[in-house]
Amino acid sequence: MSPASINDRSTVAGVGLGEHHKSVVVVQQKESAAIVGPQNQRSIPCIASTVCGSSDAVDTVAAAPRPRRERAARIRHYVMTAPTFFAVEYAINPWMDTTVPVDIGIAIAQWKNLRNTYRKLGHIVDLVEPVPGLPDMVYAANGGLIVNDKAIVARFRYPQRAGESIAYAEWMMSNGHTPVYTRHINEGQGDLLLAGGIILAGAGFRTDVKAHAEIAGIVGMPVVSLELVDPRFYHLDTALAVLDDTTIAYYPPAFAASSCAQLEALFPEAITVGSSDAYVFGLNAVSDGYHVVHPADSVGFAKQLSDGGFEPIGVDMSELLKGGGSVKCCTMEVHS
Ligand code: ARG
Repeated sequence: MSPASINDRSTVAGVGLGEHHKSVVVVQQKESAAIVGPQNQRSIPCIASTVCGSSDAVDTVAAAPRPRRERAARIRHYVMTAPTFFAVEYAINPWMDTTVPVDIGIAIAQWKNLRNTYRKLGHIVDLVEPVPGLPDMVYAANGGLIVNDKAIVARFRYPQRAGESIAYAEWMMSNGHTPVYTRHINEGQGDLLLAGGIILAGAGFRTDVKAHAEIAGIVGMPVVSLELVDPRFYHLDTALAVLDDTTIAYYPPAFAASSCAQLEALFPEAITVGSSDAYVFGLNAVSDGYHVVHPADSVGFAKQLSDGGFEPIGVDMSELLKGGGSVKCCTMEVHS
């Protein structure tokens, strides 16, 4: 099948994501919101609602209830790092305030509850040894992207987190993976989310858009670049959750209009959440295809999930939110 632009909705819907993307390498240029294949590059007109890229008056974007569908859980393999050395000692995102104290006991209890929640659901949870002096290491999602038998290790934007790359690369090596490095900045699953046969990739604040092309080459999968525009949603996983291979949830105002258009075209059944859920990091959630573990405060999102046939499981992550992260940030999935 020849590569086609994703603004051709019927083509996307007709063949399904997997087949559609088989022959396509997708890299969005910064402003054009294009899908790039070997011979084809077309821009997508903005078909998104006007709220994309603007955080005002966004409660109106909450989507109409989705039709209830059968959902299926799949056993997952997660990697987590205990918040033994968690602290807010520097501020590299708008959520971090070094003057607000962190209660390490509460942080550890919340993290343990998350780990136990996954285990009770039957998932595998491997643990990485926390390293003193790396207070953000609890956000294991950022450690890398493991998919298609390739393990890409993070290259962090801020020097405070650089040491984490070494720790996650060591974990990869001792677990049978060969870490691969990118030349450009990539913050692992913070910005790189597997959705069916494609990788959704955030850029704008952390991961360099140039890393997207590198990653497409390394893992041999299409990568869709999405531009983040609101610094509060500085990683893709703060503004978008993959619920199953064909369903996502996202917060449109966190994205450039052209990126919203891409998401609308690729995921016609997407759930769009309102600002009250987005601002408590509701989208920083982890789904096994049926159970969706999400920050407990995102009650509107929980309702949307159950209306859509998922089972929401709210967990309290208030202490870890002080570092600018929640459920998904604390969880790296090893995709088999
Ligand atoms: N304090 C960390 C940072 O700013 C939080 C990382 C959150 N992780 C994530 N996957 N969004 O880098």
